Amino acid sequence: MGSSTLPPLRHNLVFPKCPSPSRNFRFQSRLSFFRVRSTYVVGEETVVGVQQTNALEPDLLACPICYKPLIRKGPSGLNLAAIYRSGFKCNKCEKSFSSKDVYLDLTVTAGTKEYREFKPSRTELFRSPVVSFLYERGWRQNFNRSGFPGPDEEFKMAQEYFKPAAGGLLVDVSCGSGLFSRKFASSGTYSGVIALDFSENMLRQTYDFIKKEDSLLNANLALVRADVSRLPFSSGSVDAVHAGAALHCWPSPSNAIAEISRILRSGGVFVGTTFLAPEFGDSFPSEIFRPIRRAVVQLANTYSNLTEKEIEDLCTSCGLINYTSKVQRSFIMFSAQKP
Ligand SMILES: C[S@@+](CC[C@H](N)C(=O)[O-])C[C@H]1O[C@@H](n2cnc3c(N)ncnc32)[C@H](O)[C@@H]1O
Repeated sequence: MGSSTLPPLRHNLVFPKCPSPSRNFRFQSRLSFFRVRSTYVVGEETVVGVQQTNALEPDLLACPICYKPLIRKGPSGLNLAAIYRSGFKCNKCEKSFSSKDVYLDLTVTAGTKEYREFKPSRTELFRSPVVSFLYERGWRQNFNRSGFPGPDEEFKMAQEYFKPAAGGLLVDVSCGSGLFSRKFASSGTYSGVIALDFSENMLRQTYDFIKKEDSLLNANLALVRADVSRLPFSSGSVDAVHAGAALHCWPSPSNAIAEISRILRSGGVFVGTTFLAPEFGDSFPSEIFRPIRRAVVQLANTYSNLTEKEIEDLCTSCGLINYTSKVQRSFIMFSAQKP
């Protein structure tokens, strides 16, 4: 399970890795877990939210192949050290998962020796070490020109939408270099935060930023590699899903939102931002322009920007309700809830 060249998790302290879970292993018994309604301070307001006594529910992490809960061997908890020292196994698929480098790899292809998965270029681009390095060092700031208000304001706006999920577990899907995951984890609003991305290098960058802050290293903040179209969580196990500037990068927005809807618990909140595709107004029928736009995206293999109507339609058709949004030029922040 993993190599010996792993970077230290905390300064010079390297945690020993657990042996791979084998068939006859006695896995750790399930964690005790309670949920109660409680009050939380979000910004300057006190709100009623969900309180969990244990940040990592026993059945939270699921096999990306069959969605059965993963059995864990190792220390409990959602912090980096505990996850790093744990082995996870699907008893049904007989597949083991472990922390490679600094993140827990829960992709279907984790552990494959010959096969490598290549996604469309809008996903592959972000796997590059150079793009991952530059992302928070200039790349993301460019989004402001399209109407993105910037991470501080976007975080504040998202926190407003997430009020019903305060005290619960938040998954920051397609977290990039973790700019929002870190803000969510530092806010103290959530019992746990999972920073999730398909890009190995984005997750390494996320870790590089986290390790600069002791409070984040010790927070309930885990790094997970996964495909948004195959989220490794049990159905109805997550209180909040955030997806910043991501929908236009996903290989299949419909599979992704269906997955987000599946993992949200009743009352759970999804908040996303993306770049909008231009609307041509009523004088240009969308039946004419939509196929042209789709063809251009497919031919150029570029970002798949959607119109606001398409995003709402997609959320609704994936069973989400209470759709609402804020738009500023090409920027949209939208939110929808699991009934
Ligand atoms: C533009 S970045 C957004 C980063 C950050 N959330 C933000 O708000 O700036 C898009 C992210 O989506 C991720 N991504 C693309 N395809 C993905 C997939 N299939 N599954 C999970 N993440 C994916 C990329 O790796 C990249 O980190």
